[in-house]
Amino acid sequence: MRTLLILGALLMSSAAHAQVKADWKLVIHGGAGTIRKANMPPGKEQELHAALDRALAAGSKILSSGGSAPDAVEASVRVLEDDPNFNAGRGSVFTYDGDNEMDSSIMDGRTRAAGAVTGVTATKNPISLARAVMEKSEHVFLSREGANEFSRQQGLEQAAPDYFATPERRRQLEVFKSKKVSALDIEYKFGTVGAVALDSSGHVAAATSTGGMTGKRWGRIGDSPIIGAGTYADDRGCAVSGTGWGEYFIRVGVAHEICARMRLDGAAAQTAADDVMAEVKALGGDGGVIVVTPKGDMVYSFNTAGMYRGKADATGRSTRLYSEAQER
Ligand code: GLY
Repeated sequence: MRTLLILGALLMSSAAHAQVKADWKLVIHGGAGTIRKANMPPGKEQELHAALDRALAAGSKILSSGGSAPDAVEASVRVLEDDPNFNAGRGSVFTYDGDNEMDSSIMDGRTRAAGAVTGVTATKNPISLARAVMEKSEHVFLSREGANEFSRQQGLEQAAPDYFATPERRRQLEVFKSKKVSALDIEYKFGTVGAVALDSSGHVAAATSTGGMTGKRWGRIGDSPIIGAGTYADDRGCAVSGTGWGEYFIRVGVAHEICARMRLDGAAAQTAADDVMAEVKALGGDGGVIVVTPKGDMVYSFNTAGMYRGKADATGRSTRLYSEAQER
């Protein structure tokens, strides 16, 4: 009888485990704004699809084998940082002075531990530096040369300035300067990347990485490395990564605001995300967010023409979109 009871308990626990495992979720973005499909050079659409697919595959591989949400979001973001089509890591936009200064952040919804860096110039994958700040330092937010030094001390892979610089981004800086395009022009401020995940243990995490805004000056910092603005994760609410006009995301506290509305008001994820993005728009800003919740919701919301994005879950379904419509 005792053996039967133990066997029953084991079977129940393994069934519960299998059920929990079936619930992982992953959502990624490669920036809002979106070059219109009609204006894309030949082959660009395929390149973007392939990069989004690789980012989804990297995170899905971790989640499907029972890995953690922070591991998954870091892995997905690293893929997009490595792809020069996105404004993060390699392919980051240039500052007014012709440098690449990158920002990133990560948050673990299980513990609400967080790490962020701003103005870093030499770490191949800035998201891994943010992760190191979260896990290997006593701090949450490091900046510029201090963050570079911490990166070297941690033994993270370093890259020379030429690695990050691409001809297309240099051309954008030249256009920006010659035409005196506003730093806020849509094609000059988007391309931030991010990921949010729910792991099979029921925990959420969020990660965001960017080169910021073409022509940024005076040490300008956007929302992406600011916990609560561009990134937030809390198992009691949701995980959010944003992309868009950083100044407005900071003022609205977008990522924290979405999670707080869910936690305190009981708002549905889509409603909270849409309402907060409407606030951004009402103030004059634009952009988008991706959201996952511990219950398994996967949400996009954006008020731009489009947003490069994708999602995957344990069913094996995986989609990536950058249509100019608000497809869910
Ligand atoms: N959302 C990116 C930035 O404003 O820097």
